[in-house]
Amino acid sequence: MKGIILAGGLGTRLWPLTKVTNKHLLPVYNKPMIFYPLEMLVNAGIQDIMVVTGGNNAGDFLRLLGNGKNFGLRHLHYAYQEGEGGIAEALSLTEDFADDQPLCVVLGDNILENSIGPYVEKFQRQGSGAKILLKSVPDPQRFGVPELSEERVVKIHEKPQVAPSKYAVTGVYWYDHRVFDVIRSVERSRRGELEITDVNNCYIEWGEMTYDILEGWWTDAGTLDSLLHANNLVAQAMSEQPSLESEGS
Ligand code: DAU
Repeated sequence: MKGIILAGGLGTRLWPLTKVTNKHLLPVYNKPMIFYPLEMLVNAGIQDIMVVTGGNNAGDFLRLLGNGKNFGLRHLHYAYQEGEGGIAEALSLTEDFADDQPLCVVLGDNILENSIGPYVEKFQRQGSGAKILLKSVPDPQRFGVPELSEERVVKIHEKPQVAPSKYAVTGVYWYDHRVFDVIRSVERSRRGELEITDVNNCYIEWGEMTYDILEGWWTDAGTLDSLLHANNLVAQAMSEQPSLESEGS
């Protein structure tokens, strides 16, 4: 399985923090944000990883991460997204790298308490289709929200005014090789983006989407409030488990 970290976009919701740097290079407690998704993949045993980034500061990712040696990697692959055409557009740039392998895709501003290792194994056993992780949150309308019927996800609604459930679709996804054909088939949304939710809804319509309820805490860090929340969650976790501190920090 290959790993993809999507770290493009302009981070406008964090302006002016993102005026002269990329959102994913901002600190979350004691590490740059991008370390968290990278360690998430490496700790789950995924070694073949591509980072998609963009904007004016893409070169800083190279300076910070290099070839991934500090994370135990032999290589780290990079792609550049021009503009901010959406999560699915960023993912489309990884098609050659993916080389028809199954993918674990992580949004660069998502931070999880626990290892995704068990879910990686579950998707390996699943063999094809797609998988998402859901988390119960107090403000689901900020996210992609699953509509559930008898424990099945029947549709995901992107930032609905009225949330059809209490769950957020987290930014950790698994796809088989057909995901790139699916992306080619979706149309730009009203905000001009290729939406990952439209891609996920396609797998749902095929009956080939599974989900799990994520154990442990989860947060994004893309708004001022969620960035502060992420800092506090990591600080709290580190005070409880000093061994969480990475060697690279
Ligand atoms: O965090 C989970 C949520 O992420 C999901 O529940 C939503 O369904 C999904 O659409 C997404 O919502 P956000 O509004 O939080 O996405 P955002 O635009 O903040 O982008 C999240 C990450 O995706 C960002 O840190 C980098 C990457 N990205 C985003 C865009 C728009 C790119 O690589 N390229 C892009 O063009």
